[in-house]
Amino acid sequence: MSSGNVSPSEFWSSLSQRTKAIGAAAIGAAAIVAGVYVWTKTRTPCPALSDCGSRDTSRDASLFPTLVQLDSALEDLHEMFVMTREEMEKTASGMQSAMVSGLQPASDSSLKMLPTYVDKLTVNAQGQVVIALDMGGTNLRVMKVQIKPGGHAVILGVNKHSIPQQYMIGSGSALFDFIAHCVIEAIGDSEGDIPLGFAFSFPTLQEAINRGKLVEWTKGFAASDVEGRDVAELLNASFKAAGKNIQVTALVNDTVGTMMTGAFATQDENTLIGLILGTGSNACYVEKAENIVKWKGAPIESGHMVINIEWGAFDSPVFSTLPHNKFDIELDETSLNPRKQHFEKMISGMYLGELARLVLQEYCAEINLFGGQTSSNINTHYTFGTHFMSQIESDNTPDLAGVSAVLKSIGIASSTLPVRRFVKVVCNLVAVRSARLAAAGLGAIIRQLGRINKPVTVAIDGSVFELYPGYQDAMRNALIELGFHSVTLTLAKDGSGLGAALTAAIMT
Ligand code: GLC
Repeated sequence: MSSGNVSPSEFWSSLSQRTKAIGAAAIGAAAIVAGVYVWTKTRTPCPALSDCGSRDTSRDASLFPTLVQLDSALEDLHEMFVMTREEMEKTASGMQSAMVSGLQPASDSSLKMLPTYVDKLTVNAQGQVVIALDMGGTNLRVMKVQIKPGGHAVILGVNKHSIPQQYMIGSGSALFDFIAHCVIEAIGDSEGDIPLGFAFSFPTLQEAINRGKLVEWTKGFAASDVEGRDVAELLNASFKAAGKNIQVTALVNDTVGTMMTGAFATQDENTLIGLILGTGSNACYVEKAENIVKWKGAPIESGHMVINIEWGAFDSPVFSTLPHNKFDIELDETSLNPRKQHFEKMISGMYLGELARLVLQEYCAEINLFGGQTSSNINTHYTFGTHFMSQIESDNTPDLAGVSAVLKSIGIASSTLPVRRFVKVVCNLVAVRSARLAAAGLGAIIRQLGRINKPVTVAIDGSVFELYPGYQDAMRNALIELGFHSVTLTLAKDGSGLGAALTAAIMT
């Protein structure tokens, strides 16, 4: 299913010129109260013993599961979470088929394959100051960025905000007024002629580089009256309502920003893929114009355009390719967006902790994992964050003191060493599967690029890739297992915002 080679120098020529239940599981419903998931009725929570609590540091070992019980549980978990090479192959070829189909005019592919209108890479306005607005998830960053000769983006100032839950799930106009307010606060009196690059990290059907309609919310957002509407226009309207003449110059997905940042920073013209492995997950790549069969715009002069795959949606609404298990099904069915974003729910930071939590909760009920101690973090949706997994996996002390500390911090006052080992293996199984799925996805893109044996650089941003212990190695090993020996994975830190700034400068 080869689609011809993408030749990097064609696309990046300006870069070099420039200077170079399983079936339905028996689960209950989750209700949302004030935007927070609350367990209503589902699997049995950890049994609560009246004497448990932080004072309990010397629990009777006989209350904890035996080694035989733990081993048998691990065997089941291996069966469910270990992703074989064949499964990675199946995922890669399924994803490539979905990519090709998503590039056709009328397609029922799970992959949206959104043209981004980014088809060139020349920074004209060096020295120019640009505003980058980065809305990746719950965090919003406004950066003042100066584009230096050579396309290097230098951050002059950053303002960070967390988007209050009330705006994430409230009215769209309130959300955009809040965002506009954050920008206005950051730029002070200067306005109007400063280009604004908006990294909007949600699926957006672009109609121009500075216009695009939100297809649907992901990552816990549900603000009303935004889906189907042009988000740049909504933001421009909020600026106007605040008496400011500011307009969005470029609207870019975070994957695109990351690819731009990576390419400019490394001057590596093999940078043909941008990847986010953070709260959410998604990838973009440089596609040949002739393969974008659904393209209706003006002829693409450079012969290439960056495509936002929206790979998080792969294999939705019904799992048919991904090697999923009962925990994936439970997570999906109790999520804000059931039957959507199946791939993302198996790999991204928003969900990895929740998957691990579901596993730990199951074994609390099945084998009394924590000897009868209970923890609201184990019993409440989305309260066992992926950062706990990172802390657990970075503990290499002989008695797993770090794991014990994490468990204590969530109310499990005492644990045995075998139980701590079990918890660590659970985190590892969930994280390594994520890395192998991501590698399989990259495999699909590399094949689509026609560059199986040619160098390809992937610019990557996101906390899972950057910070999760062992994740990068697991991804690299999986790529080699799949036969991709010429792939370079590089961190493009803060890529989305900087890339939005670069794109705004390019388009000015
Ligand atoms: C979600 C969004 C996508 C974004 C990704 C990473 O999958 O739909 O647009 O790129 O998160 O932030």
